[in-house]
Amino acid sequence: MNSRKILSVIFLALVVACALALYRENNQSSATAPAGASAMPIGKRVEIKAPLGLPPVPIPADNPPTAETIALGRRLYYDPALSIDNTVSCATCHSPQAGFADPKPVSEGVGKKTGTRNSPTVFNAAYFQVQFWDGRAPSLEKQAEGPVQNPVEMANTLAAVEQKLSADPSYRDQFAKAFGPGPITYEMVEKSIASFERTVISANSPFDRWKYGHEETAVSDSVKRGFIVFTSKKKANCAACHLVGEKEALFTDNKFHDIGIGVDFGQITDPGLYAVTKKESDRGLFRTPSLRNIALTAPYMHDGSLKDLKQVMDFYIGAGNSNPNLDKEIHTLDFLTGQERADLVAFLNSLTGQIPPDSGPPAQAQAQK
Ligand code: HEC
Ligand code: HEC
Repeated sequence: MNSRKILSVIFLALVVACALALYRENNQSSATAPAGASAMPIGKRVEIKAPLGLPPVPIPADNPPTAETIALGRRLYYDPALSIDNTVSCATCHSPQAGFADPKPVSEGVGKKTGTRNSPTVFNAAYFQVQFWDGRAPSLEKQAEGPVQNPVEMANTLAAVEQKLSADPSYRDQFAKAFGPGPITYEMVEKSIASFERTVISANSPFDRWKYGHEETAVSDSVKRGFIVFTSKKKANCAACHLVGEKEALFTDNKFHDIGIGVDFGQITDPGLYAVTKKESDRGLFRTPSLRNIALTAPYMHDGSLKDLKQVMDFYIGAGNSNPNLDKEIHTLDFLTGQERADLVAFLNSLTGQIPPDSGPPAQAQAQK
Protein backbone atom coordinates (compact mmCIF):
# COMPACT_ATOMS: atom_id res chain seq x y z
CA MET A 1 0.00 0.00 0.00
CA ASN A 2 1.31 3.40 -0.82
CA SER A 3 0.87 6.26 1.56
CA ARG A 4 -2.04 7.65 -0.44
CA LYS A 5 -3.99 4.43 -0.08
CA ILE A 6 -3.21 4.31 3.64
CA LEU A 7 -4.50 7.85 4.04
CA SER A 8 -7.75 7.12 2.23
CA VAL A 9 -8.31 3.98 4.35
CA ILE A 10 -7.79 6.03 7.51
CA PHE A 11 -10.16 8.67 6.15
CA LEU A 12 -12.81 6.05 5.37
CA ALA A 13 -12.43 4.52 8.84
CA LEU A 14 -12.91 7.94 10.39
CA VAL A 15 -16.06 8.56 8.35
CA VAL A 16 -17.50 5.21 9.41
CA ALA A 17 -16.61 5.88 13.06
CA CYS A 18 -18.27 9.27 12.95
CA ALA A 19 -21.37 7.85 11.31
CA LEU A 20 -21.54 5.11 13.96
CA ALA A 21 -21.15 7.62 16.78
CA LEU A 22 -23.88 9.81 15.33
CA TYR A 23 -26.18 6.84 14.86
CA ARG A 24 -25.68 5.75 18.46
CA GLU A 25 -26.24 9.22 19.82
CA ASN A 26 -29.49 9.54 17.90
CA ASN A 27 -30.65 6.19 19.11
CA GLN A 28 -29.83 7.02 22.68
CA SER A 29 -31.71 10.28 22.58
CA SER A 30 -34.72 8.59 21.10
CA ALA A 31 -34.49 5.93 23.81
CA THR A 32 -34.66 8.59 26.52
CA ALA A 33 -37.29 10.64 24.70
CA PRO A 34 -40.46 9.07 26.15
CA ALA A 35 -39.83 10.71 29.55
CA GLY A 36 -40.16 14.15 27.99
CA ALA A 37 -42.46 13.13 25.14
CA SER A 38 -46.02 14.14 25.49
CA ALA A 39 -49.28 13.09 24.00
CA MET A 40 -50.45 15.72 21.54
CA PRO A 41 -54.00 16.00 20.26
CA ILE A 42 -53.97 15.23 16.52
CA GLY A 43 -57.20 16.98 15.55
CA LYS A 44 -57.79 20.50 14.34
CA ARG A 45 -57.53 23.15 17.03
CA VAL A 46 -60.88 24.71 17.91
CA GLU A 47 -61.34 28.26 19.18
CA ILE A 48 -63.15 28.51 22.51
CA LYS A 49 -65.15 31.71 22.44
CA ALA A 50 -65.27 33.55 25.75
CA PRO A 51 -68.71 34.89 26.72
CA LEU A 52 -69.29 38.60 27.43
CA GLY A 53 -67.43 39.58 30.60
CA LEU A 54 -64.59 37.06 30.38
CA PRO A 55 -61.17 37.32 28.66
CA PRO A 56 -59.97 34.59 26.25
CA VAL A 57 -59.36 31.28 28.03
CA PRO A 58 -55.65 30.60 28.66
CA ILE A 59 -54.55 27.50 26.70
CA PRO A 60 -51.27 25.66 27.38
CA ALA A 61 -49.06 25.18 24.31
CA ASP A 62 -48.95 21.40 24.71
CA ASN A 63 -52.71 20.90 24.86
CA PRO A 64 -54.58 22.73 22.10
CA PRO A 65 -58.28 21.92 22.41
CA THR A 66 -59.80 19.86 19.59
CA ALA A 67 -63.37 18.69 19.04
CA GLU A 68 -62.19 15.13 19.77
CA THR A 69 -60.37 15.85 23.06
CA ILE A 70 -63.22 18.04 24.32
CA ALA A 71 -65.81 15.33 23.58
CA LEU A 72 -63.58 12.69 25.16
CA GLY A 73 -62.98 14.87 28.23
CA ARG A 74 -66.70 15.40 28.60
CA ARG A 75 -67.33 11.66 28.54
CA LEU A 76 -64.55 11.03 31.08
CA TYR A 77 -65.82 13.81 33.35
CA TYR A 78 -69.20 12.14 33.69
CA ASP A 79 -67.89 8.56 33.84
CA PRO A 80 -67.81 6.85 37.26
CA ALA A 81 -65.41 4.30 35.73
CA LEU A 82 -62.60 6.61 36.87
CA SER A 83 -63.29 5.61 40.49
CA ILE A 84 -62.18 2.34 42.06
CA ASP A 85 -65.72 0.93 42.41
CA ASN A 86 -67.48 2.71 39.53
CA THR A 87 -69.60 4.85 41.84
CA VAL A 88 -68.07 8.32 41.70
CA SER A 89 -67.44 10.62 38.73
CA CYS A 90 -66.09 14.16 38.63
CA ALA A 91 -69.71 15.27 38.33
CA THR A 92 -70.59 13.62 41.66
CA CYS A 93 -68.88 16.54 43.39
CA HIS A 94 -69.00 19.10 40.57
CA SER A 95 -72.51 18.66 39.27
CA PRO A 96 -74.10 20.78 36.54
CA GLN A 97 -77.27 20.72 38.67
CA ALA A 98 -75.40 22.49 41.46
CA GLY A 99 -73.48 25.07 39.43
CA PHE A 100 -70.70 22.51 38.83
CA ALA A 101 -70.10 22.44 42.58
CA ASP A 102 -71.61 20.39 45.43
CA PRO A 103 -74.51 21.46 47.67
CA LYS A 104 -72.94 19.48 50.54
CA PRO A 105 -70.47 21.40 52.75
CA VAL A 106 -67.91 18.64 52.11
CA SER A 107 -68.36 16.08 49.34
CA GLU A 108 -68.74 12.33 49.62
CA GLY A 109 -66.36 10.15 47.62
CA VAL A 110 -66.32 6.35 47.28
CA GLY A 111 -67.85 4.55 50.27
CA LYS A 112 -69.37 7.89 51.35
CA LYS A 113 -65.98 8.99 52.71
CA THR A 114 -65.64 12.73 53.27
CA GLY A 115 -62.76 15.18 53.02
CA THR A 116 -62.38 18.51 54.79
CA ARG A 117 -62.99 20.99 51.98
CA ASN A 118 -65.95 22.25 50.00
CA SER A 119 -65.96 21.39 46.29
CA PRO A 120 -65.31 24.57 44.33
CA THR A 121 -67.13 25.08 41.06
CA VAL A 122 -65.54 23.91 37.82
CA PHE A 123 -67.19 26.90 36.07
CA ASN A 124 -64.36 29.22 34.99
CA ALA A 125 -61.70 27.17 36.82
CA ALA A 126 -59.85 27.50 33.49
CA TYR A 127 -58.97 31.08 34.44
CA PHE A 128 -57.19 30.29 37.71
CA GLN A 129 -53.39 30.41 37.54
CA VAL A 130 -53.23 27.55 40.06
CA GLN A 131 -55.86 25.01 41.09
CA PHE A 132 -57.34 24.01 44.48
CA TRP A 133 -58.10 26.20 47.49
CA ASP A 134 -54.40 26.05 48.41
CA GLY A 135 -53.13 26.28 44.83
CA ARG A 136 -51.22 23.00 45.01
CA ALA A 137 -51.85 22.04 41.35
CA PRO A 138 -50.23 24.20 38.65
CA SER A 139 -52.77 23.44 35.90
CA LEU A 140 -56.12 21.85 35.13
CA GLU A 141 -54.19 18.93 33.65
CA LYS A 142 -52.25 18.27 36.88
CA GLN A 143 -55.38 18.92 38.95
CA ALA A 144 -57.11 15.99 37.23
CA GLU A 145 -54.55 13.59 38.76
CA GLY A 146 -55.67 14.52 42.27
CA PRO A 147 -59.24 13.24 42.67
CA VAL A 148 -58.56 9.90 40.96
CA GLN A 149 -55.86 9.05 43.50
CA ASN A 150 -57.41 10.73 46.55
CA PRO A 151 -58.48 7.95 48.98
CA VAL A 152 -61.64 9.86 50.01
CA GLU A 153 -62.61 10.79 46.45
CA MET A 154 -62.12 8.19 43.68
CA ALA A 155 -59.57 6.02 45.56
CA ASN A 156 -58.07 4.70 42.34
CA THR A 157 -54.64 4.71 40.66
CA LEU A 158 -53.71 6.34 37.37
CA ALA A 159 -52.44 2.99 36.05
CA ALA A 160 -55.74 1.28 36.92
CA VAL A 161 -57.66 3.97 35.04
CA GLU A 162 -55.42 3.48 31.99
CA GLN A 163 -56.08 -0.26 32.16
CA LYS A 164 -59.83 0.04 32.64
CA LEU A 165 -60.23 2.47 29.76
CA SER A 166 -57.99 0.36 27.50
CA ALA A 167 -60.30 -2.61 28.05
CA ASP A 168 -63.20 -0.65 26.54
CA PRO A 169 -63.21 -0.74 22.71
CA SER A 170 -65.27 2.44 22.41
CA TYR A 171 -62.74 4.34 24.56
CA ARG A 172 -59.83 2.85 22.59
CA ASP A 173 -61.47 4.14 19.46
CA GLN A 174 -62.15 7.59 20.92
CA PHE A 175 -58.60 7.98 22.31
CA ALA A 176 -57.12 6.95 18.95
CA LYS A 177 -59.24 9.57 17.19
CA ALA A 178 -58.11 12.21 19.69
CA PHE A 179 -54.40 11.36 20.09
CA GLY A 180 -53.54 8.89 17.34
CA PRO A 181 -52.81 5.18 17.68
CA GLY A 182 -50.98 3.76 20.72
CA PRO A 183 -51.70 2.83 24.31
CA ILE A 184 -54.05 5.00 26.39
CA THR A 185 -52.08 7.01 28.95
CA TYR A 186 -53.32 9.06 31.88
CA GLU A 187 -51.69 12.08 30.29
CA MET A 188 -54.29 11.79 27.52
CA VAL A 189 -57.03 11.46 30.14
CA GLU A 190 -56.02 14.61 32.00
CA LYS A 191 -55.47 16.60 28.82
CA SER A 192 -58.94 15.68 27.56
CA ILE A 193 -60.63 16.50 30.86
CA ALA A 194 -58.80 19.84 31.01
CA SER A 195 -59.86 20.72 27.47
CA PHE A 196 -63.46 19.93 28.35
CA GLU A 197 -63.18 22.07 31.48
CA ARG A 198 -61.88 24.96 29.35
CA THR A 199 -65.28 24.94 27.64
CA VAL A 200 -67.15 25.02 30.97
CA ILE A 201 -66.90 28.79 31.15
CA SER A 202 -69.81 30.97 32.11
CA ALA A 203 -70.49 34.71 31.97
CA ASN A 204 -72.87 36.98 30.01
CA SER A 205 -74.76 37.40 33.27
CA PRO A 206 -77.19 40.30 33.85
CA PHE A 207 -74.21 42.13 35.43
CA ASP A 208 -72.06 41.59 32.31
CA ARG A 209 -74.84 42.72 30.00
CA TRP A 210 -75.14 45.92 32.06
CA LYS A 211 -71.47 46.65 32.76
CA TYR A 212 -69.84 45.36 29.57
CA GLY A 213 -72.81 45.20 27.18
CA HIS A 214 -74.13 48.64 28.25
CA GLU A 215 -77.68 47.34 28.52
CA GLU A 216 -79.14 49.72 31.08
CA THR A 217 -82.17 47.56 31.84
CA ALA A 218 -80.26 44.29 32.32
CA VAL A 219 -80.14 44.79 36.11
CA SER A 220 -82.19 46.56 38.81
CA ASP A 221 -81.18 49.80 40.55
CA SER A 222 -80.40 47.76 43.64
CA VAL A 223 -77.78 45.77 41.66
CA LYS A 224 -76.24 48.99 40.32
CA ARG A 225 -75.98 50.39 43.85
CA GLY A 226 -74.62 47.05 45.07
CA PHE A 227 -71.86 47.27 42.48
CA ILE A 228 -70.76 50.61 43.96
CA VAL A 229 -70.76 49.10 47.47
CA PHE A 230 -68.74 46.13 46.16
CA THR A 231 -66.08 48.21 44.41
CA SER A 232 -65.87 51.39 46.46
CA LYS A 233 -62.86 51.70 48.76
CA LYS A 234 -64.95 53.64 51.25
CA LYS A 235 -67.69 50.99 51.26
CA ALA A 236 -67.22 47.19 51.25
CA ASN A 237 -64.19 47.19 48.91
CA CYS A 238 -64.74 43.52 48.03
CA ALA A 239 -63.09 44.23 44.67
CA ALA A 240 -59.73 44.62 46.46
CA CYS A 241 -59.51 40.82 46.08
CA HIS A 242 -62.46 39.91 43.85
CA LEU A 243 -61.17 41.98 40.91
CA VAL A 244 -63.39 43.72 38.39
CA GLY A 245 -61.71 45.08 35.23
CA GLU A 246 -62.74 47.67 32.69
CA LYS A 247 -63.38 45.13 29.91
CA GLU A 248 -63.90 41.91 31.83
CA ALA A 249 -64.05 40.51 35.35
CA LEU A 250 -62.66 37.32 36.85
CA PHE A 251 -63.69 38.36 40.39
CA THR A 252 -60.42 36.95 41.66
CA ASP A 253 -56.90 38.34 42.03
CA ASN A 254 -55.54 34.77 41.76
CA LYS A 255 -53.82 35.44 45.09
CA PHE A 256 -54.08 33.95 48.57
CA HIS A 257 -55.59 35.56 51.65
CA ASP A 258 -56.66 34.73 55.16
CA ILE A 259 -60.13 36.19 55.62
CA GLY A 260 -60.70 34.45 58.97
CA ILE A 261 -62.54 31.27 57.96
CA GLY A 262 -61.78 28.00 59.79
CA VAL A 263 -60.49 29.58 62.97
CA ASP A 264 -61.20 28.04 66.38
CA PHE A 265 -60.34 30.19 69.41
CA GLY A 266 -57.76 32.12 67.37
CA GLN A 267 -56.22 28.88 66.04
CA ILE A 268 -56.16 28.23 62.27
CA THR A 269 -57.60 24.75 61.65
CA ASP A 270 -56.67 24.21 57.96
CA PRO A 271 -53.06 25.01 56.94
CA GLY A 272 -54.15 26.30 53.49
CA LEU A 273 -51.24 27.72 51.45
CA TYR A 274 -48.81 26.73 54.26
CA ALA A 275 -49.06 23.11 53.08
CA VAL A 276 -47.50 24.22 49.78
CA THR A 277 -44.95 26.85 50.89
CA LYS A 278 -44.23 25.83 54.52
CA LYS A 279 -44.18 29.51 55.42
CA GLU A 280 -45.84 30.31 58.75
CA SER A 281 -47.26 33.54 57.31
CA ASP A 282 -49.13 31.45 54.69
CA ARG A 283 -51.03 29.42 57.27
CA GLY A 284 -54.78 29.82 56.74
CA LEU A 285 -54.43 31.55 53.36
CA PHE A 286 -56.70 30.39 50.53
CA ARG A 287 -56.93 31.40 46.88
CA THR A 288 -59.60 34.03 46.23
CA PRO A 289 -62.51 32.23 44.54
CA SER A 290 -64.34 33.82 41.61
CA LEU A 291 -67.82 35.08 42.45
CA ARG A 292 -69.34 34.26 39.08
CA ASN A 293 -72.45 32.04 39.48
CA ILE A 294 -72.10 32.45 43.22
CA ALA A 295 -75.88 32.16 43.72
CA LEU A 296 -75.69 28.59 42.35
CA THR A 297 -72.85 27.25 44.47
CA ALA A 298 -73.83 27.39 48.16
CA PRO A 299 -72.55 26.54 50.70
CA TYR A 300 -69.53 28.83 50.73
CA MET A 301 -65.86 29.05 51.73
CA HIS A 302 -63.13 26.38 51.72
CA ASP A 303 -64.86 24.48 54.50
CA GLY A 304 -68.42 25.03 53.29
CA SER A 305 -69.20 26.65 56.63
CA LEU A 306 -71.44 29.50 55.42
CA LYS A 307 -74.76 28.27 54.13
CA ASP A 308 -76.03 31.23 52.13
CA LEU A 309 -75.10 34.71 50.87
CA LYS A 310 -76.71 36.35 53.88
CA GLN A 311 -74.32 34.46 56.14
CA VAL A 312 -71.43 35.53 53.90
CA MET A 313 -72.59 39.13 54.28
CA ASP A 314 -72.75 38.85 58.08
CA PHE A 315 -69.35 37.21 58.13
CA TYR A 316 -67.67 40.05 56.23
CA ILE A 317 -69.51 42.69 58.26
CA GLY A 318 -68.04 41.11 61.40
CA ALA A 319 -64.54 41.08 59.81
CA GLY A 320 -64.05 37.32 60.02
CA ASN A 321 -62.46 35.53 62.93
CA SER A 322 -59.39 37.19 64.31
CA ASN A 323 -56.14 35.27 63.95
CA PRO A 324 -52.47 36.13 63.42
CA ASN A 325 -52.63 36.02 59.59
CA LEU A 326 -55.90 37.88 59.00
CA ASP A 327 -55.61 39.98 55.81
CA LYS A 328 -55.28 43.73 56.32
CA GLU A 329 -58.14 44.29 53.85
CA ILE A 330 -60.51 42.51 56.23
CA HIS A 331 -62.02 44.93 58.73
CA THR A 332 -65.45 45.49 60.14
CA LEU A 333 -68.11 46.82 57.75
CA ASP A 334 -70.70 47.59 60.39
CA PHE A 335 -71.13 51.09 58.92
CA LEU A 336 -72.96 49.66 55.88
CA THR A 337 -76.67 50.44 56.03
CA GLY A 338 -79.33 47.75 55.75
CA GLN A 339 -80.06 48.97 52.22
CA GLU A 340 -76.38 48.73 51.24
CA ARG A 341 -76.17 45.19 52.55
CA ALA A 342 -79.27 44.18 50.61
CA ASP A 343 -77.87 45.89 47.48
CA LEU A 344 -74.61 43.97 47.82
CA VAL A 345 -76.49 40.65 47.94
CA ALA A 346 -78.59 41.73 44.92
CA PHE A 347 -75.33 42.44 43.09
CA LEU A 348 -73.94 38.98 43.91
CA ASN A 349 -77.19 37.48 42.61
CA SER A 350 -76.71 39.30 39.29
CA LEU A 351 -73.53 37.30 38.59
CA THR A 352 -75.35 34.16 37.45
CA GLY A 353 -74.22 33.63 33.88
CA GLN A 354 -75.24 31.54 30.93
CA ILE A 355 -74.63 27.82 31.18
CA PRO A 356 -72.33 26.84 28.31
CA PRO A 357 -73.89 24.49 25.76
CA ASP A 358 -72.62 20.91 25.63
CA SER A 359 -71.48 20.95 29.24
CA GLY A 360 -73.94 18.38 30.60
CA PRO A 361 -73.56 14.59 30.44
CA PRO A 362 -73.04 13.48 26.83
CA ALA A 363 -75.94 11.53 25.31
CA GLN A 364 -73.43 9.09 23.86
CA ALA A 365 -72.09 8.03 27.28
CA GLN A 366 -75.59 7.41 28.56
CA ALA A 367 -76.40 5.27 25.56
CA GLN A 368 -73.25 3.24 26.17
CA LYS A 369 -74.07 2.51 29.81
C1 HEC B 1 -65.40 13.29 46.14
C2 HEC B 1 -65.58 14.61 45.57
C3 HEC B 1 -64.78 15.04 44.37
C4 HEC B 1 -64.56 14.35 43.18
C5 HEC B 1 -65.01 12.95 42.83
C6 HEC B 1 -63.84 15.25 42.33
N1 HEC B 1 -63.61 16.44 42.96
FE1 HEC B 1 -62.76 18.09 42.17
N2 HEC B 1 -62.68 18.91 43.99
C7 HEC B 1 -63.27 18.41 45.14
C8 HEC B 1 -62.85 19.18 46.27
C9 HEC B 1 -63.27 18.96 47.72
C10 HEC B 1 -61.97 20.16 45.77
C11 HEC B 1 -61.20 21.19 46.59
C12 HEC B 1 -60.05 20.45 47.24
C13 HEC B 1 -58.96 21.35 47.77
O1 HEC B 1 -58.89 22.52 47.37
O2 HEC B 1 -58.14 20.86 48.55
C14 HEC B 1 -61.91 19.98 44.33
C15 HEC B 1 -61.20 20.80 43.45
C16 HEC B 1 -61.30 20.72 42.07
C17 HEC B 1 -60.82 21.71 41.13
C18 HEC B 1 -60.12 23.01 41.49
C19 HEC B 1 -61.03 24.19 41.30
C20 HEC B 1 -60.48 25.42 41.92
O3 HEC B 1 -61.23 26.39 42.06
O4 HEC B 1 -59.30 25.45 42.30
C21 HEC B 1 -61.11 21.25 39.87
C22 HEC B 1 -60.81 21.94 38.55
C23 HEC B 1 -61.73 19.96 40.03
N3 HEC B 1 -61.86 19.69 41.38
C24 HEC B 1 -62.09 19.12 38.99
C25 HEC B 1 -62.37 17.77 39.19
C26 HEC B 1 -62.31 16.76 38.17
C27 HEC B 1 -61.94 17.00 36.73
C28 HEC B 1 -62.66 15.57 38.75
C29 HEC B 1 -62.70 14.20 38.12
C30 HEC B 1 -61.45 13.70 37.56
C31 HEC B 1 -62.96 15.87 40.15
N4 HEC B 1 -62.74 17.19 40.38
C32 HEC B 1 -63.41 14.93 41.05
C33 HEC B 1 -64.11 17.33 45.18
C34 HEC B 1 -64.16 16.33 44.21
C1 HEC C 1 -58.71 40.17 51.42
C2 HEC C 1 -59.31 39.68 50.18
C3 HEC C 1 -60.81 39.58 50.14
C4 HEC C 1 -61.75 40.58 50.33
C5 HEC C 1 -61.51 42.03 50.64
C6 HEC C 1 -63.04 39.96 50.13
N1 HEC C 1 -62.88 38.63 49.83
FE1 HEC C 1 -64.37 37.32 49.52
N2 HEC C 1 -63.02 35.78 49.56
C7 HEC C 1 -61.66 35.94 49.66
C8 HEC C 1 -61.06 34.64 49.88
C9 HEC C 1 -59.57 34.36 50.03
C10 HEC C 1 -62.11 33.71 49.96
C11 HEC C 1 -61.99 32.22 50.29
C12 HEC C 1 -61.73 32.15 51.80
C13 HEC C 1 -61.79 30.78 52.43
O1 HEC C 1 -62.52 29.90 51.96
O2 HEC C 1 -61.11 30.60 53.46
C14 HEC C 1 -63.34 34.48 49.73
C15 HEC C 1 -64.61 33.92 49.65
C16 HEC C 1 -65.76 34.62 49.33
C17 HEC C 1 -67.04 34.03 49.04
C18 HEC C 1 -67.33 32.54 48.98
C19 HEC C 1 -66.99 31.99 47.62
C20 HEC C 1 -67.14 30.51 47.49
O3 HEC C 1 -67.12 30.03 46.34
O4 HEC C 1 -67.25 29.79 48.49
C21 HEC C 1 -67.92 35.04 48.78
C22 HEC C 1 -69.39 34.92 48.41
C23 HEC C 1 -67.18 36.28 48.93
N3 HEC C 1 -65.87 35.98 49.25
C24 HEC C 1 -67.71 37.54 48.78
C25 HEC C 1 -67.05 38.70 49.19
C26 HEC C 1 -67.70 39.96 49.42
C27 HEC C 1 -69.17 40.23 49.20
C28 HEC C 1 -66.73 40.83 49.86
C29 HEC C 1 -66.88 42.24 50.32
C30 HEC C 1 -67.77 42.43 51.43
C31 HEC C 1 -65.47 40.08 49.88
N4 HEC C 1 -65.72 38.81 49.49
C32 HEC C 1 -64.24 40.62 50.23
C33 HEC C 1 -60.97 37.13 49.58
C34 HEC C 1 -61.54 38.36 49.84
